[in-house]
Amino acid sequence: MKRLAILATGSGSNAEKIMEHFAHSSKGEIALVGTNKEDAGVLVRAKKFGVPTFTFTRKEMEAGVLLAKLQEERVDWVILAGFLLKVPDELIRAFPDRMVNIHPALLPNYGGKGMYGHHVHEAVKAAGETESGITIHLVNEHYDEGKIIFQAATSLLPEDSAETIAAKVLALEHQYFAGVIEGLL
Ligand code: GRF
Repeated sequence: MKRLAILATGSGSNAEKIMEHFAHSSKGEIALVGTNKEDAGVLVRAKKFGVPTFTFTRKEMEAGVLLAKLQEERVDWVILAGFLLKVPDELIRAFPDRMVNIHPALLPNYGGKGMYGHHVHEAVKAAGETESGITIHLVNEHYDEGKIIFQAATSLLPEDSAETIAAKVLALEHQYFAGVIEGLL
């Protein structure tokens, strides 16, 4: 059984789908949910699934506290599901080709610094794109430039707002992320 840690900063709807999926998987189990936000919604969701949680500050993460916890819990894979801090290189190097992120756009477009959450969908809307989607990729030191594992697209209509684009993209995330992770194990 591979042991997975999920890192999230926000509400954790993706984390919930992943915990649901791995609640009955023969290949992996969710060993830990980590977050840098004391009041993150993901903590409530983890408790619902009986998954241990770990809260840390950016400084603690950068001091190696998170890496030590992941090693102590014998974590094999790290899943970034809406984790908004830059992962320290030391942590990325400790999980070579074993750290996965989901980006709410079709990389390499709409990636890079500042491109997260609603900023992504606003840029897609402003550009008049007729489609958007998700990218699931391995994390390397160049962040959104890691090896792309999976992409799925959804068509956009001129009347779509950044909010409706976000909803269409989130639906794809919930549909595909857990299964793609399982396929990597
Ligand atoms: C998603 O939009 C995901 O693409 C991005 O962060 C968001 C996470 O949403 N990485 P949630 O916290 O899983 O609901």
